[in-house]
Amino acid sequence: MNKSISKKNSADQTIAPGAEELPAIEVIRQALDTHHPAIALACSFSAEDIVVLDMMMKVNRQARVFALDTGRLDEETYEVADAIRQRWEIDIEWFFPDKEDVEKMIRTRGVYSFRHSIENRQECCRIRKVEPLRRALDGLTAWITGLRRDQAVTRNRLTQFETDPGHGNIIKVNPIANWTLQEVWDHVQAHELPYNRLYRQRYTQIGCEPCTTSVRPGEDPRAGRWRWEAPEQKECGLHNHGSGI
Ligand code: ADX
Ligand code: SF4
Repeated sequence: MNKSISKKNSADQTIAPGAEELPAIEVIRQALDTHHPAIALACSFSAEDIVVLDMMMKVNRQARVFALDTGRLDEETYEVADAIRQRWEIDIEWFFPDKEDVEKMIRTRGVYSFRHSIENRQECCRIRKVEPLRRALDGLTAWITGLRRDQAVTRNRLTQFETDPGHGNIIKVNPIANWTLQEVWDHVQAHELPYNRLYRQRYTQIGCEPCTTSVRPGEDPRAGRWRWEAPEQKECGLHNHGSGI
């Protein structure tokens, strides 16, 4: 991983794929210095997001965090959310889906509609994740994610700073875009961070309970997400619009 500092990064806050990259904490520092309080971390309570949050808290204890409660999250995810709230004494800004949209979908298509077709799955993700994200980003000039390039084939062109055309061209900051999974877990251990208990049951990613499973040794890390879909389809719509993904 190249951790040398690039002037281009600080100048225009976007870089081309493959350009020099900054240490994650420098990315976070630049982003918070430029955009706070109109910037927040999108937190799914994955190990990646908690690592990013840890660095944000070291830079600015007032940094903002939001989470999208789809209504289908795992019990273990709520537990780690509460552990984080207590550790850093922060208020997590929760966003929920529009209740009328959820009621209509469940009444007309059933509680497991997302298993029946890609269209149904995308509709559920749109109602439970994409539309609440739009509200979470309203008024922000930038948002921060825990995305990494080697998480999925759909993410291999990710950069640390992007513009997000899907959300009014605000800045999207991916501080650990170039980190490996091992680096994430090294950071979790070194800083004794709370982490989701599902990882002890061979989960490699954290998502909605009915759409995420554990992963067998040798399987792709994203294999547990929407198991019934092809790898190039495995995006829920939160990250479809970036330059690299
Ligand atoms: S997803 O698009 O497949 O659901 P993934 O779970 O890999 O995304 O997470 C990628 C990043 O999207 C996370 O690091 C986080 O920044 C954001 N994210 C995903 N799910 C949520 C959520 N429920 N609430 C807030 N942010 C989320
Ligand atoms: Fe619905 Fe599954 Fe998407 Fe969650 S991941 S919003 S349950 S389709």
